[in-house]
Amino acid sequence: MPDRFEILHKDLAGRIGRLSTLHGTVETPVLMPVVNPHLPLIPPGELQKMGADMIITNSYIIHQDPALNAQAMERGLHDLLGFSRPIMTDSGAFQLSVYGDIDVSPLEILEFQFAIKSDISVPLDIPTPPDVSRDRAEAELKITEERLVQAASLEREGLLACPIQGSTYADLRERAGRFAAELPFDVYPVGGVVPLMEAYRYRDLVDVVVAAKKGLGSGRPVHLFGAGHPMIFALATAMGCDLFDSAAYALYARQDRYLTVHGTGKLADMSYLPCSCPVCEKHTLKELISSPEKTRLLARHNLYVSLAEMRQVKESIREGSLWDLLETRCRSHPRMLDGLRRLARQGQWLERLDSAGKSTFFCTSAEAALRPEVMRHARKIDRISLQGEVLITDDPQVDTTGYDRVLYFKPPFGPYPAELAETYPFNAEVPEEADGAAIEQAVSIAKELMRANPGARFSFRMKREGMEERLRSK
Ligand code: GUN
Ligand code: ZN
Repeated sequence: MPDRFEILHKDLAGRIGRLSTLHGTVETPVLMPVVNPHLPLIPPGELQKMGADMIITNSYIIHQDPALNAQAMERGLHDLLGFSRPIMTDSGAFQLSVYGDIDVSPLEILEFQFAIKSDISVPLDIPTPPDVSRDRAEAELKITEERLVQAASLEREGLLACPIQGSTYADLRERAGRFAAELPFDVYPVGGVVPLMEAYRYRDLVDVVVAAKKGLGSGRPVHLFGAGHPMIFALATAMGCDLFDSAAYALYARQDRYLTVHGTGKLADMSYLPCSCPVCEKHTLKELISSPEKTRLLARHNLYVSLAEMRQVKESIREGSLWDLLETRCRSHPRMLDGLRRLARQGQWLERLDSAGKSTFFCTSAEAALRPEVMRHARKIDRISLQGEVLITDDPQVDTTGYDRVLYFKPPFGPYPAELAETYPFNAEVPEEADGAAIEQAVSIAKELMRANPGARFSFRMKREGMEERLRSK
């Protein structure tokens, strides 16, 4: 099979890639607006003009409606929806998880997606919710995997998705990822996570996604099912997710909710429209609220900010500054910050994927102490082997005669060989006044270095007040 996913640029576990389908190639990360075939709030042709390069719809809804079914079978999905670029179809698994039952067999709904020329078809998986018993998670995963094996054996022209389930059991998710990697699929959606996102459980979301990614390996395109709020695009992309679907733009609009990259506002509680998309440029808040087209206009705004955030994420990957974007976005909600900290704890995994050659980085928040570059330095500090008289200093002007080795000290890194001062990441731009987290990290790394070198004699020359005492203390 020709390579259908090509990675062009990387930052953290995130990447810019190219995915080839029957209806052309899309650049990832890509946001697919969800289109309801019965009542599209924004017609797919309009979505395309707004910048949506790919959409997703529900094949089960089309299958169950005799008129839509007949038209799709006759003229194809793209003609039915009026969209010429790639379309992904979901299988109705979500209906299954909401209603407990659906009227179609796994084979039937998959063959239907092939027949209407879906660009990415999804087998009927079982979206196991979070926190269920281990027995249930394993039993449902087994059924999903049997269906996946059957799906992979079918003749097809388009791409095929392989949902990864396993509830909140990281080891099951990782196993499901390894299982998926053995089969000839094209796209790998992490499923069953909508309840985690609805409950703001971003820490658990990070655990689930990272586990699935570890099982899958880094070369395959991953879809995060149901992740449509722009607030989490940076975090999800940093974990290596490439496809996103947004029902959020329409669902929130129907509830008078205004999306921003920082969260969700209720129109009635707002005083201004803090955005310059075509909707917000042409309307005042008052006009928007009283417009008969309110829901449609709000859906448009919601989608504009979502698509713009996706472009911002891509620009950050290209610049190598995705971590900086993450820090900013994760300020929006305390639980987002928990998610970022959880991701930072995956330091070794992130480090391996992160491309090393970057420009200078800027330390502008406490979370900078958790960056992969800092964690890597901390992990390897005990490999620096020192003998004799060692000076640790934060003052490059200090007199160093008589010392066998000189290490510079800079929060959040702590000590590093003076010879590396001009190289990445030690050339980081840091504030004159380091914050508590950066200093703590630096002191802890320095102590680890001293523990690893009991034969060396350490001296300190610090401009920063109180530092020499802190370094000398046990
Ligand atoms: N939509 C949201 N979550 C899921 C999932 O786990 N599986 C499928 N097929 N669709 C979804
Ligand atoms: Zn707007």
